Amino acid sequence: MVPVENIRSFPYPFGENNIYRYSNNAIPLNPPIAIEVTESYIEELNLKRELLKKHHERCYHSESHTMDAKWEALDLILNQLSEYYPEKFKLITNDDHWIFTNLQTGEKQSFTFGDHGTLDLEPLDFVGRHVQEDLILMMQRDGDLYLDAGQLCFPANWSLFFDAGMSFKEIHKQIPGFQSDSLDERILQFLMRIEAGIPWWRKNWSLMAGNRLDTSLEIFAEWGQARKKVTKDNVGQFVHLRVEVQRLFRLPKSYGILFTIHSHMLPLKKFIQHTLWLEQLSAILQELPEFIADYKGISLYRELVLEYLEKELGKR
Ligand code: HEM
Repeated sequence: MVPVENIRSFPYPFGENNIYRYSNNAIPLNPPIAIEVTESYIEELNLKRELLKKHHERCYHSESHTMDAKWEALDLILNQLSEYYPEKFKLITNDDHWIFTNLQTGEKQSFTFGDHGTLDLEPLDFVGRHVQEDLILMMQRDGDLYLDAGQLCFPANWSLFFDAGMSFKEIHKQIPGFQSDSLDERILQFLMRIEAGIPWWRKNWSLMAGNRLDTSLEIFAEWGQARKKVTKDNVGQFVHLRVEVQRLFRLPKSYGILFTIHSHMLPLKKFIQHTLWLEQLSAILQELPEFIADYKGISLYRELVLEYLEKELGKR
């Protein structure tokens, strides 16, 4: 079972506008934390570790020149875990000799920072098993950004294996409208100017039939059919709002960008407990152009969702 979260901690994805279009919606991140530990921590960690054990080639990719960036990512995340969640994690560093303790899982790991012979896993693969986020490293060279490493267990309908080594624009190429007014170029330029110590974040949203977190493209046959199983009677429980909190950190030494993705899910039934949320979702979905609804995989059941929201609005 995938954990479904509490409405209080759910990151509301919409702004003031009742019209949704693709844009550069990244804003400065304050406080500057790359990770968040929620009440589903243990369940999601177990799910991640199971996926990594069974499908490592699908969930992990790394090119050899990214070793320094992977150590930097580990450095940033372990330090933040112990700084922001001192009751859950401890980090003792004595020059290059580090001891990390995860008090939630009861694990303790000693290693020599920078010496990958002292860790059983690559640093990115190790640190990713202690956080709920998926971790992507975009390396900057020749005026572009490339997806050269990542640990990805909960992709929203994409494939790490397929996208490995691609540039930012190649990754986003199939998104309809993403090239209009050179949006892809403007976002790329923005990303390449991100400075160390000044991180950014954005939210991305979608609707999902079912509550699976591991919706990788490789296993579309396992979860894609759920879109046909939405009915008038199950829509409130079965359809979920899926929100990704995405954070962007410049790694100063390797000059890579660490992109962390925290996926949250809430059934519509819970989401609409807030009347304002119900009203705005209904307005946005009604207006959403076909090409965005299609891309997000909502088209098959959009009408059923709209009818449900309408009915609920009538009760308020
Ligand atoms: C730099 C790290 C980033 C990576 C690795 C990344 C990766 C991806 C991937 C793999 C997809 C799915 C594409 C597909 O259908 O195959 C996607 C979708 C998308 N990305 Fe990014 N992205 C990044 C940053 C950004 C930023 C900074 C923005 C905007 C400011 C952005 C905007 C979008 C949008 C609008 C979509 C479509 C999502 C939807 O409609 O559900 N991405 N991204």
